Amino acid sequence: MGCDIKDRGLADAGRARIEWAEADMPVLVAIRERFAVERPFEGVRMGCCMHVTTETANLVRALVAGGAQVALCASNPLSTQDDVAAALVEYYGADVYAIKGEDTETYYRHIDSVIATAPQITMDDGADVVGRMHADFPQYLDGIVGGTEETTTGVIRLKAMAADGALKYPIVAVNDANTKHMFDNRYGTGQSTIDGIIRATNRLIAGRTVVISGYGWCGKGAAMRARGLGAKVIVCEVDPLVALEAVMDGHRVMKAADAARECDIWITVTGDLNVIDVPAFENLKPEAILCNSGHFNAEINIPWLREHCTVREVKPMVEEFTFADGRRCYLLAEGRLVNLSAAEGHPAEVMDMSFANQALAAEWMLEHASELQPGVIDMPRAIDDDIARLKLECMGVEIDTLTPEQVAYLNSWDAGTV
Ligand code: ADE
Repeated sequence: MGCDIKDRGLADAGRARIEWAEADMPVLVAIRERFAVERPFEGVRMGCCMHVTTETANLVRALVAGGAQVALCASNPLSTQDDVAAALVEYYGADVYAIKGEDTETYYRHIDSVIATAPQITMDDGADVVGRMHADFPQYLDGIVGGTEETTTGVIRLKAMAADGALKYPIVAVNDANTKHMFDNRYGTGQSTIDGIIRATNRLIAGRTVVISGYGWCGKGAAMRARGLGAKVIVCEVDPLVALEAVMDGHRVMKAADAARECDIWITVTGDLNVIDVPAFENLKPEAILCNSGHFNAEINIPWLREHCTVREVKPMVEEFTFADGRRCYLLAEGRLVNLSAAEGHPAEVMDMSFANQALAAEWMLEHASELQPGVIDMPRAIDDDIARLKLECMGVEIDTLTPEQVAYLNSWDAGTV
C-alpha cells in the first residue's frame, strides 16, 4: 500500500476525529451502509485529489465500503490534516499522499503518485488531477470511465477545457448540484472562513469593516456571517446584477481601490487573479488583514507584496508586510484557503451533502459509463432531490406534499382569478 504522509503514529487521533465528523454525516453513512452491501465499486481504482480532512475521510470510507481502491492526495498544500492522513492509511485502507505544508514540488509529486495508480474514476477539487493527466500523463486517459469535480473553480477550468475540445472524458460537476453549492459554498464557506480568520488572529469582528471581493454563493455566505458578528460589510463585485443583489442585501458596494481605505479585514472569494492589487495596496488602511477563501492563492498579488515590503511572521498563519511608507498589513495562510489552512474547513453537516453527491455521482457514472460522452455533465436532478429529502429526514424535518388537486392546478393554464 502506497503512502507519503507525515506520521503514521497520528492515526488514533485522526480516527477519533473522523468518527466525530461521522456523527454529523448521516446521509453519507446511509450511503456507506448501502455501498457495503451492494459493492458498486468492486475493484474500481479511484484517484482523489481533495482536502484531506475528517469529512473527506468519511467519503473515502464510503468509497472503500463500496469496493473501491482509493488513492488520495491533497488539493491544497496547507489543508491536509496529518492525523487524518495517518488514520486513512492505518485504519481505512486508502493510499494517501499528503503532508500539511508540503512545497509545490511535493504537492505535484503527490498528484503524480495518484495518477500513477491508473485511476478509472477521478475525484477532483480544483481540477488539478484532470489538468495534469491531460497535460503530462495522457497515457492514463484511455482507462478512465469518468470523473467528478467538487468546486466552482474546477468546474470553470473544466468548462474551458471542454470549450477548447481538450477534455477527453466525462466529468460530473458536483459543485453545481443544488445540495452542494447552496449549502457548502454559502453556509460552509461563510462559517469556516470567519472561523479561519478568528483562529489565526483572535481579532474581534464586531465593529470592524469587512470587505468581501466576490458575491457569489461563497461571498454571500461570508458577508452574512461577518454581518452576524457585527461587522460592517463592503462588497466588491464586477457583475452588475450580482452587485445590485449585494446592494439590496444591505451592503455597501464599491471599487476595490476605494474599499481599501476602510478595510479592516479583506476576504477574497472570486476565483480570479489579483483582485487585491497595487491600487488597493496603495490605499490600504494601516493594519488591514488580508485573506483568501477562493480555491487558488492567486487572488491577492502576493508576489508584489513580497517584492515591495519587508516581511515577518508574527505567529502561525499570520505574516506582517511593511510597506515603504511604514504602513503594515497582514496576510493570513500565505493567501491560501484560509478556512482550510487556519481552521478545519466546512463543518461536517454541510460536507455530508457535498460528499453524498460525490459518492452518488461516481456510482451513477459507472452505471451509465457506456452512454457518457467527454464533457462537463450536470448532476442528475433526481439524485440531488433525493439527497435533499434524505438530509431533511435525517434532521427530523417533515414537509407537506402537494395534494392531487394542487398538482392539477399547477399543471393547468385555464384557472385564473377566483
Ligand atoms: N472543502 C471545504 N471544506 C472541506 C472539508 N471540511 N473537507 C473537505 N473539503 C472541504
